[in-house]
Amino acid sequence: MNSVFSDSATTIFETMSQLAKAHDAVNLGQGFPDDPGPEEVRRKAAESALSGWNQYPPMMGLPELRQATAAHYKRMQGLDLDWEKEVMVTSGATEALAGALLALLEPGDEVVLFQPMYDAYLPLVRRAGGIPRFVNLRAPGWRINEEDLKRAFGPKTRAVIFNDPLNPAGSAFPREDLELLGRYLVRYGAVAICDEVWEHTVFEGPAHLPLMALPGLRGRCVKIGSAGKIFSLTGWKVGLVCAAPELMKVLSKAHQYLTFSTPPNLQAAVAYGLSLGDDYFRGLKARLRASHDRLAAGLEAAGYKVLPSQATYFLSVDLGPGEDDAAFCGRMVREARVAAIPVSAFYAENHLRNIVRFCFAKKDATLDEALRRLDSWKRGKV
Ligand SMILES: Cc1ncc(COP(=O)(O)O)c(C=O)c1O
Repeated sequence: MNSVFSDSATTIFETMSQLAKAHDAVNLGQGFPDDPGPEEVRRKAAESALSGWNQYPPMMGLPELRQATAAHYKRMQGLDLDWEKEVMVTSGATEALAGALLALLEPGDEVVLFQPMYDAYLPLVRRAGGIPRFVNLRAPGWRINEEDLKRAFGPKTRAVIFNDPLNPAGSAFPREDLELLGRYLVRYGAVAICDEVWEHTVFEGPAHLPLMALPGLRGRCVKIGSAGKIFSLTGWKVGLVCAAPELMKVLSKAHQYLTFSTPPNLQAAVAYGLSLGDDYFRGLKARLRASHDRLAAGLEAAGYKVLPSQATYFLSVDLGPGEDDAAFCGRMVREARVAAIPVSAFYAENHLRNIVRFCFAKKDATLDEALRRLDSWKRGKV
């Protein structure tokens, strides 16, 4: 058996969701919305399954989805993408990440990983033969520091995984940080695997800027999006990969042997969804902002220190010194019956242990019930 997987524990998301069930808790742990998602997009998926093509779609993805992806990123982010040479559909961002690592790394290549990091990165890097080099981002700003890059980059650096906006912090990197990272990519001849699954959730501050859009970085970036996040349908697993033709050639080889294709009805529905008017995308942000503000205000009123966030489905609470986030989440799910995620789970070394992540992409009633329970718990009433 391969030790990368035999030695790895069940993910914290699964563990907390199971505990949430066992204790009949409000689950603000795993990041999924509790509304059903846009009806017209779901209807399109149902119609396509009934009357459309249900055999293998093209390996690179349905042309209509690849065209819609290029048009969408032109409209929203000003990118000029050739849909035939630079756009590919995968089975979720997770497959795109795995494929990119398999396609880009030779055993022994180094990969720079920013902590806190999404849990799939490290096992995928290791399984692809990569050697991780960690950089810690620091709360509350979660900015990139040049001294850290100097320490992490070296002659063996082949790739960086760059998650912007950042889960779990809910932050987005300013242009200055992208430029700093870009200089290191160029200096060391490295490629950035840009995990931009949260690109449409920036509800505060400047609009999302893909690293790929910066001068000189077009050929050094693999941009990864996720329809699951764009349409609040996290079970759909439709990933959108954009990269310059030279990179795409090798990325597509990995995809060819991993999943080869993605359910065609979901692809057709996502193509339809990406072409929705700006109203849909503005509405998504407005709903996220309202939910964020509701949960943040309630937590603050109950005496928790909420850290600033501007994107994703998440906000974080700083427990202060002396608290252990995992122990706190364990107590909270049992005693308050509210589940959240300890941010230490997003570290492989030099863990930060005083921050807890809450998902706010929930109905008002769900958030209010969680807040009621947390308030009573804090006041010692449960
Ligand atoms: C940073 C990040 N990357 C990737 C994913 C997975 O995306 P998908 O469901 O499209 O595989 C997630 C899901 O939460 C995520 O937060």
